Amino acid sequence: MTLLQNLEHRLAAAIEAAVGEAIPPNIAPSADLRFGDYQSNSAMVLAKSRKTNPRVLAGQIIAGLDLGDLATAKIDGPGFINFTILREAYAAHAEAILKDPRLGAPEPGKGKCIVIDFSAPNVAKPMHVGHIRSTILGDSLCRIARFLGYEVIADNHIGDWGTQFGMILHGWKSLLDPNALAADPITELVRIYRDVNAAAKSDPAVLETCKSELVKLQSGDAGNLAIWRQCIDVSKAGLEKIYARLDVKFDHWLGESFYNSMLPGLVDEFLESGLARESNGAICIFSDETKAPEQDPFKVHKEDGWTDNPAIIRKADGGFLYATTDLATIQYRIDQWHADQIWYVVGVPQQLHFRQIFESARRWGKTTEFVHIAFGSILGEDRKLMKTRSGENVGLTDVLEEAVERAAAAIAEKNPELGAEEAAAIAEIVGIGAVKFAELSQNRLTDYVFAWDRMLSLQGDTAPYLQYSHVRIRSIFRKLDHAFDAAAAKIILEKEEEIHLARLLARFGEVLPLVLEDFRPNLLANYLLELARAFHSFFEACQVLKSEAATKSSRLALCELTSRVLAKGLGMLGIRCPERM
Ligand code: ARG
Repeated sequence: MTLLQNLEHRLAAAIEAAVGEAIPPNIAPSADLRFGDYQSNSAMVLAKSRKTNPRVLAGQIIAGLDLGDLATAKIDGPGFINFTILREAYAAHAEAILKDPRLGAPEPGKGKCIVIDFSAPNVAKPMHVGHIRSTILGDSLCRIARFLGYEVIADNHIGDWGTQFGMILHGWKSLLDPNALAADPITELVRIYRDVNAAAKSDPAVLETCKSELVKLQSGDAGNLAIWRQCIDVSKAGLEKIYARLDVKFDHWLGESFYNSMLPGLVDEFLESGLARESNGAICIFSDETKAPEQDPFKVHKEDGWTDNPAIIRKADGGFLYATTDLATIQYRIDQWHADQIWYVVGVPQQLHFRQIFESARRWGKTTEFVHIAFGSILGEDRKLMKTRSGENVGLTDVLEEAVERAAAAIAEKNPELGAEEAAAIAEIVGIGAVKFAELSQNRLTDYVFAWDRMLSLQGDTAPYLQYSHVRIRSIFRKLDHAFDAAAAKIILEKEEEIHLARLLARFGEVLPLVLEDFRPNLLANYLLELARAFHSFFEACQVLKSEAATKSSRLALCELTSRVLAKGLGMLGIRCPERM
């Protein structure tokens, strides 16, 4: 149990005793430590609905509050109850979580299944920086949800059945360089796609050929299907390499094409049940007119007021759409995997699409919880959308390459005596960690500026700073001439800096569930920065190796626990810790 949960139980009992009703309490860490460690506004909330004096009610609650050896409580301001955790309680908690492989984290997800739909690049198109955010954010959410006990199914819903295949098929037949394909398949596929795309713009005949290639593919032409299969296979192989480098894993790769055979039946079902109807030859889902237009994803505001904005699930020419596939995907995930929740980690521009899909699924009788975990864009240092020097969208591989190169240069400067192989391995961990942390330490909805120097700095709010903190702690243990059994250590907290470090260590298990409340790994990232800063203040104020036996053992145990929490926390962000730096 976390300290916060412990306080919540005790406060809940006292509230019930005071007001005769079981009401879940509100407690949060105090913004200002001068008032205490945790603060509750429950007395104020309750007094308002009961029209009594909040300070009097707070007094009645405190009178019946059994805090044991955990904390003291007092009333402040208009009726806040402020709690100060006793230093002995912090010490006992630190000892307990040193023995716990979960480091005090709860398991609220037991028995629940979440499907997480993330990354999902489009085949034969390069992964761009927008896919970076989805991949890094989605992977971190998978790791955190799994650690909190959820059964997580990571599904890469790749775009493997789009209109781009008309161009690719035509390019494959007329422009393909087999040697280039063998050497670097994704680049070659992208090249033929771009060349055909450019040719089609100036020559309508090319466009017509592409269209007819697409129709042949969609109607099951064996030759085109074989080429399409090959495109998917080489693209997947290229993507696998990037994911391996990023240490990102999927349980499934059920792309759009997987659902093709289910689409005709789905549209029939929607028609028969009245969920969709025909409009100008297309089959559409319209508003059910139960919501105010501002809240209705099937309405849009135009000059002359609100008009219909249906989701099309079959075009007049018989073709199916992105929305049709997404509905079939929902059906599959519920039927086959019994998903309790489905999370989609996809950029803000697809917000309307998901609102329509979720609303359609609800009308279709699906009770699963759907969440669109949206994110903003990545900007270059000029605050414009990030581009390469030649003006193209920056590919993910370029970003990783550059990060690792820059990390290698920094490491060579700082630690020139490292061997080439070790230096390269460290540069990989540091460079990729820096890119991931730059993403995950931001609020996902804000556009963030990609600033190389800032993300790789050892002093800033960066992965290298955290990795370096971890390295420093491990080096303390290397200086030790005896084995140290942290689980057996007795923790004694004397100095303010020691208490503060223990306070932050206890928060680890409290921060993780908060991350999932609003899908914000930045809460964890910021917590880790705070923990590392607390560690450095502690290390400056408190002798470790030179202190007398009992103090030394207690301080070493705090060091050990800090390094475990840092490594575990970074691990939840998908970031590894090097041994040396
Ligand atoms: N392939 C899409 C894109 O790159 C993202 C797919 C997201 N997932 C989904 N189920 N729609 O824009």
